[in-house]
Amino acid sequence: MDDRLQQQINYYRARAGEYDEWFYRIGRYDHGQDLNQQWFSEAQQVMDQLHGIGPVDDVLELACGTGIWTEQLHKIAGHITALDASPEVIAINKAKLNADNVTYGQVDLFNWEPDRQYDLVFFGFWLSHVPPDKLMDFLQKVARAVRPGGHLFIVDSRRAIASSAKDHIPYADTDVFHTRKLNDGSEYVIYKVFYEPQSLRHKLSRVGFEADVSETGHYFLYAHAIRR
Ligand SMILES: C[S@@+](CC[C@H](N)C(=O)[O-])C[C@H]1O[C@@H](n2cnc3c(N)ncnc32)[C@H](O)[C@@H]1O
Repeated sequence: MDDRLQQQINYYRARAGEYDEWFYRIGRYDHGQDLNQQWFSEAQQVMDQLHGIGPVDDVLELACGTGIWTEQLHKIAGHITALDASPEVIAINKAKLNADNVTYGQVDLFNWEPDRQYDLVFFGFWLSHVPPDKLMDFLQKVARAVRPGGHLFIVDSRRAIASSAKDHIPYADTDVFHTRKLNDGSEYVIYKVFYEPQSLRHKLSRVGFEADVSETGHYFLYAHAIRR
């Protein structure tokens, strides 16, 4: 396996216990009341769009992490299959959701094939961690996991100031890699690739989706696509 992809898995495994500090703007991710408020209100805007798809029966969440978005999917889903490479985040997700209708799987998404077609496939903050040279293969795989007429929903980061931790290099100054630190100061280099709405819409169209791709005011990019 590509060393960077292994490092990316190692990073999220080691970060599992402190992962939610990012989304809830705690500690190194606390950028002050105004920016935090803006973050939460933009996140809510994306969640509202996601909830608007429901109810849906069979949902697949890729790179589910600690469950921040699994909790949102749970409001609209009959059943969720939640996949991630890290057993540590899966354990946190499972404890948080405590739900009979969520099935977990530990998989490396670059060596995974969908077992069936779902009504909705979702991934949050995963697209940006897919190496650019693997993106189209990955999106084709995603297309194979969505039934014709089914939904794909993606949320990810814009190249925004104050998105990541205060002791990280700002995204505005980065290329396809980002050096991340944990609370103990240990460092990891991971992929972090940003997309513009038009380019993502075009890529999704090439693999068989009709997509609406939007940005919130500062922080997030999100796509809602229907499989042709
Ligand atoms: C930025 S986090 C996003 C987590 C969650 N979707 C969220 O929005 O909170 C990226 C997730 O991808 C997982 N991951 C990293 N490499 C992976 C791989 N090769 N296969 C599957 N999951 C992977 C990590 O364990 C981590 O949970």
